[in-house]
Amino acid sequence: MIPFNARRVNIDAGTRCTLQCPGCIRTRFVRDNKRIPGKDLTVEQFKKIVDYFDEIGFCGTWSDPIFNKNFIQFLKICKYKNKPVEISNAASHKPIEWYEEAFAANKNAYWVFGIDGLPEESHKYRKNQDGVKLFNMMLSAKYSGLKVLWQYILFNYNIHNVEEAKKIANFHKLEIMFVESYRPYIDPELENVKLDDKHTKFEGNMGWNNIDVEVVKRFKGGLKPKCLLSDRDLSYSSTGHILPCCWANVAMDEKQMGPLFSDKLHIDNNNTVDDIVTSDEWKDFFFKLKTYSLDELPDTCVENCSKSLQNNHCCNKIINDERWQN
Ligand SMILES: C[S@@+](CC[C@H](N)C(=O)[O-])C[C@H]1O[C@@H](n2cnc3c(N)ncnc32)[C@H](O)[C@@H]1O
Ligand code: SF4
Ligand code: SF4
Repeated sequence: MIPFNARRVNIDAGTRCTLQCPGCIRTRFVRDNKRIPGKDLTVEQFKKIVDYFDEIGFCGTWSDPIFNKNFIQFLKICKYKNKPVEISNAASHKPIEWYEEAFAANKNAYWVFGIDGLPEESHKYRKNQDGVKLFNMMLSAKYSGLKVLWQYILFNYNIHNVEEAKKIANFHKLEIMFVESYRPYIDPELENVKLDDKHTKFEGNMGWNNIDVEVVKRFKGGLKPKCLLSDRDLSYSSTGHILPCCWANVAMDEKQMGPLFSDKLHIDNNNTVDDIVTSDEWKDFFFKLKTYSLDELPDTCVENCSKSLQNNHCCNKIINDERWQN
């Protein structure tokens, strides 16, 4: 058994989204006329996932989970199996009735709404989003008794509204999280900004939360694989594969990554997720991560997991203090 720290999974539930956020890999694919690989997660596939993992996350890589036609059923299954579930949603193109049904399907679900700025300005990054509608859906979830998080990525257009957003969050007793992004954008108008604010705290670098730094320092070799050394979630790719992290979702053509995307390891060809993560291909992959030099490893792994701990930010998260927590 490969010693993952926690049995959590980040699921890319399909290939569809109606937004065109300039920092999303899907927007790059669409711009380059590339097909988004994969299909909608089915109920049969989901049952295998839910049986293996203790916690379920619907965030993903190139889709918004609300567009999977089985999504409400997934929420019900999580409730029935008593598994915590977290959903990241930024697309707003589902009817209000659909949201009501989804919220009622599982009151223990934790919804994270991507509204980057005040609701009426969020579309400047979240292209095509109706931010006011999505904000109202967030309130509807909150006032129906669900736990919600307002995720606010900081940009040049919304930095001056941080205090106003906190006031609104405070009024509704919403949890709010400000995110410093380091992604590049096609849109020349957009700039990442940092927040220097005494009411916020630094949570840490993505992928390096809750780890024993001393253990990482002792790890030999050029790579410090977060899949083995941190509490990073495993991933389910819309191609039908379980992967060591969601960065791997886009690396199917990179060296050493191919076997993890083989037909043999497709979820439909395995009775359980355990069969996949204990397969020879998985053991071989981790053997290579531990022993191969950086130039023999996938670019994605080198890019995300070879930098120093201090210099390894992808997306630093800053969370409001207790006053804004539920
Ligand atoms: C592909 S999205 C999938 C979920 C959903 N469609 C959404 O956007 O929230 C994966 C994650 O990337 C985040 N994200 C999008 N643009 C980002 C950016 N510029 N910087 C940091 N995170 C970003 C999203 O908010 C979400 O948490
Ligand atoms: S809403 Fe999410 S999946 Fe859709 S384009 Fe934006 S970041 Fe990508
Ligand atoms: S990028 Fe590679 S080394 Fe890093 S967590 Fe993902 S699979 Fe592991």
